[in-house]
Amino acid sequence: MSTDRTTLPTTVLGTGGPAVGIQGLGCMGMSVAYGPTDEAEARATLEHALEQGVTLYDTAELYGEGENEKFIAPFVRAHRDEVVVATKFGIILDNDDPLKRTISNEPGYIRRAIEGSLRRLGVERIDLYYMHRRDVNVPIEETVGVMAELVAEGKVAHLGLSEVTGPELRAAHAVHPIAAVQSEWSLFSRDIEAGVVPAARDLGVALVPYSPLGRGFLTGSFTDAEKELTKEDYRRVQPRFTGENAAANAALLEPVRRIAEARGATLAQVALAWVQQRAAVHGLAVVPIPGTRKRSRLDENVGATRIELTEEELAALEPIAGKVAGDRYADMSFASAGRE
Ligand SMILES: NC(=O)c1ccc[n+]([C@@H]2O[C@H](COP(=O)([O-])OP(=O)(O)OC[C@H]3O[C@@H](n4cnc5c(N)ncnc54)[C@H](OP(=O)(O)O)[C@@H]3O)[C@@H](O)[C@H]2O)c1
Repeated sequence: MSTDRTTLPTTVLGTGGPAVGIQGLGCMGMSVAYGPTDEAEARATLEHALEQGVTLYDTAELYGEGENEKFIAPFVRAHRDEVVVATKFGIILDNDDPLKRTISNEPGYIRRAIEGSLRRLGVERIDLYYMHRRDVNVPIEETVGVMAELVAEGKVAHLGLSEVTGPELRAAHAVHPIAAVQSEWSLFSRDIEAGVVPAARDLGVALVPYSPLGRGFLTGSFTDAEKELTKEDYRRVQPRFTGENAAANAALLEPVRRIAEARGATLAQVALAWVQQRAAVHGLAVVPIPGTRKRSRLDENVGATRIELTEEELAALEPIAGKVAGDRYADMSFASAGRE
């Protein structure tokens, strides 16, 4: 696959992994989670992203139970040699209760999941296949063993893991090279810097930070999810975005706003530049995947890759994460943090 058409610089995901533009695109919100979507604008955003040099596109079986894979499929097929498509297995929605999710790494399920993703995306091979969540009932070596078989069978090109701990990443990498770890990393969520980030650096694994804009909160576009967002918006059930936590957390954005104003940038750009630079401090290849459905925001986000924050600005942003009120998930068993 060639990824040389780019205005963005590129980086390589892991040893021998694909080269991609240093910012990717999270596609989840195009189908689910963050309120109604203007589908024509979302499709135009996919095309526009590629024109800007964004080559990594992120989806999952989970997102709308396959709807998001189907949504991006025509775009992926139209640009098969230019884009790197990443999808994931491991979180299953309950048919009876839409709020209930179960985690599975059971081998039989993984084998069914890959066939579903290949079919919905309409491709012969997934470029980057992630374990979305770790099922603690299945040894990680066994899970990666099954994923390695998918590589051997030509169904998958490269492997990734989402929300794993440092020790889990090391154990997995010993079974088969891991190209990327996808975990939440932002000005508000820095728990991975303790164990996962050092392990990734030691192993030469790239980091793909998800929710680098704190699911939109860091852009200042909403404060109280319950009061301001539509009924079906996933952020309404997230502890950081409602009630007293939301008000306290909004106040933490003050230094971000100050830096943005002084630079003539936006809060989103400062938040994204921070992730990029934080990874550089740790000596990691990094490809944040901010999610947007709008061309104007895509341009804004890509523009962040040209911002270099000063030491003074980084110091002003440093204390924020330590003061955030509320967990990053209502059910923290969905995060790696508790297993370290
Ligand atoms: N591995 C995992 O467990 C996991 C978990 C969550 C997400 N993800 C992946 O990571 C991707 C990104 O994460 P995310 O979408 O949760 O959060 P995010 O990128 O932090 O934020 C997305 C939200 O910010 C808004 N936004 C984007 N750019 C903006 C800008 N410049 N100004 C103002 N608002 C802006 C988007 O709205 P518009 O769309 O309306 O612009 C959307 O509501 C997802 O799409 C998904 O592929 C993975």
